[in-house]
Amino acid sequence: MGKWKLRLEKVSWREEAKKRVALEAVKHVEDGFVVGLGSGSTAAYVIQEIGRLMRQGSLRVLGVPSSSQAMLLAVRSGIPLTTLDEYPTLDLVIDGADEVDKKLDMIKGGGGALTREKIVASAAKQVVIVADETKLVEKLGTSFRVPVEILPFALATATASIKELGGKPLLREGKGKVGAVVTDNGNYIVDVDFGAITDAEELNQLLKLIPGVIETGLFIGIADIVYLGKPDGIIKLEK
Ligand code: 5RP
Repeated sequence: MGKWKLRLEKVSWREEAKKRVALEAVKHVEDGFVVGLGSGSTAAYVIQEIGRLMRQGSLRVLGVPSSSQAMLLAVRSGIPLTTLDEYPTLDLVIDGADEVDKKLDMIKGGGGALTREKIVASAAKQVVIVADETKLVEKLGTSFRVPVEILPFALATATASIKELGGKPLLREGKGKVGAVVTDNGNYIVDVDFGAITDAEELNQLLKLIPGVIETGLFIGIADIVYLGKPDGIIKLEK
């Protein structure tokens, strides 16, 4: 009984912390902005809050979704959408993260949206990240594998090259669907265990040289501000 209570308390503080940082991050959104909409459960609170402010009439923005999840949620929340073709420069993106270090480097892609998330983030003038404090790590790779999006044709050759770099790749399999997860771009994802990563920038470059690797979940030098939710407040990390 006590064990369950503790577990429920942990679940609920994290959800509350995620909501708190989402509301804080939405304060960066200004009227008339074109905003990149992130993916995952924390970014979902951001999209819902932007939608709420728009329905209330206190904010008008256009959104560029980073995944089919973000797109559907934005539509349901009443946020009008646009594309990078129409707006190649975004005012802001707010997104989640799977791991963040003190330099603001990150691992992303737990939801399989890493490629579009990186494109949307690289198009944005400001990148704000929202997560609960359990995502803060000393070194990337400590608690989360590095997702790598791979062209299906290159699965065997690319995973062999990833092993040569010292990684242990695992093809991501679906829940609610047998077989491999297929991304919004029609590709596979391998989650690669590299252990604690000493030089994430170099690893990112080496992975990107492998033929068939579309993108990696290593987001280096991309975040400007990170809000981390604690049980009793918020930590703000800034570049
Ligand atoms: C999806 C992502 C998410 O932002 C990341 O997985 C964090 O998700 P959550 O807020 O649900 O923990 O990178 O590809």
